[in-house]
Amino acid sequence: MPAIQWEERFRVNIDKIDQQHRNLFRLFNNLQEAIIEKKGQVALAKIVDELVDYTLTHFATEERYMLAYQYPDLNAHRQEHETFREKALELQQRMRNDEFILSLEVLRFLSDWIAGHICASDQQYSRHFNDAGLR
Ligand SMILES: [Fe+2]
Repeated sequence: MPAIQWEERFRVNIDKIDQQHRNLFRLFNNLQEAIIEKKGQVALAKIVDELVDYTLTHFATEERYMLAYQYPDLNAHRQEHETFREKALELQQRMRNDEFILSLEVLRFLSDWIAGHICASDQQYSRHFNDAGLR
């Protein structure tokens, strides 16, 4: 079973963001597969790097849109991204230092956070962007 599967409830109706969310899910699923296949620390750390880089690029895309379209909840949203960013960077560092074994539980925590964030906070900007003509 995939770690996280695309469903309609995740759609925010902005093509670029929906596409990025799908890519993000794919990276989570790659990582889950690698854990199940008991890939080594170096291989796992590489996928984590990819996942973290992509997540940060994705957050930056959202925040750029929020700025450009004067989204009123930009600061609160950015704060949520920041909280996740700190956790992700810490995890990345600990994996690089070989201090940490990534488990399915940790992966689930991260994918649940992302899913919850998309369904709650990301859904809230959908209407604002669409009304401003962004699709
Ligand atoms: Fe977001």
